[in-house]
Amino acid sequence: MRTAVSADTLAANRRLARFDGHAEVWVFGYGSLIYKADFPYLERRPARIHGWTRRFWQGSHDHRGTPQAPGRVVTLVRERGAVCVGMAYRVTPDVFDHLDYREKNGYLRFVTELCFEDGGGAEGLVYIATTDNAAFLGPAPEHEIARHIAASEGPSGPNRDYLLHLAAALRELGADDPHVFAIERHLRALDEGVAAG
Ligand code: SIN
Repeated sequence: MRTAVSADTLAANRRLARFDGHAEVWVFGYGSLIYKADFPYLERRPARIHGWTRRFWQGSHDHRGTPQAPGRVVTLVRERGAVCVGMAYRVTPDVFDHLDYREKNGYLRFVTELCFEDGGGAEGLVYIATTDNAAFLGPAPEHEIARHIAASEGPSGPNRDYLLHLAAALRELGADDPHVFAIERHLRALDEGVAAG
């Protein structure tokens, strides 16, 4: 696999956008940024972006696993016609010091069009771990992803908590995400010692 992007993207993001003098910026969250807003924001609104789908294909060396035993977290993958539901936050540019650090394990900032669930839209930023980053794990069957998540843990806690919090947050948003919900089902079946249908 090509690994043109380092597993540590902190410096790359800091070299990126200068925010063009904007006093406020929208950032779209589709993973832990939906349920864990550990940063100050001016406003948050459920939103969606088009042409991307959420996948548990990114390795986590620093939050839900370690470099020796990476966990699995979500990234976005291009898919024609796909819609990804998440949460948009209006923040001041200084918040990106924290976000760039938090998302440093392979994620780069990209500009995207956001559509708010209650109407209207805006341009914003989204952190995506592209397939050419060194921590990318790629696809695997959903039952294997569930096994991997069940066995992983990192400085931010058990990998299973990431999955379960994300699934609960998506349900709260009314989002249908067959990939996330299938992995959640497999994890719960593992807990019960049965195979998920
Ligand atoms: C995001 O939540 O938008 C990025 C991925 C993550 O931190 O889980």
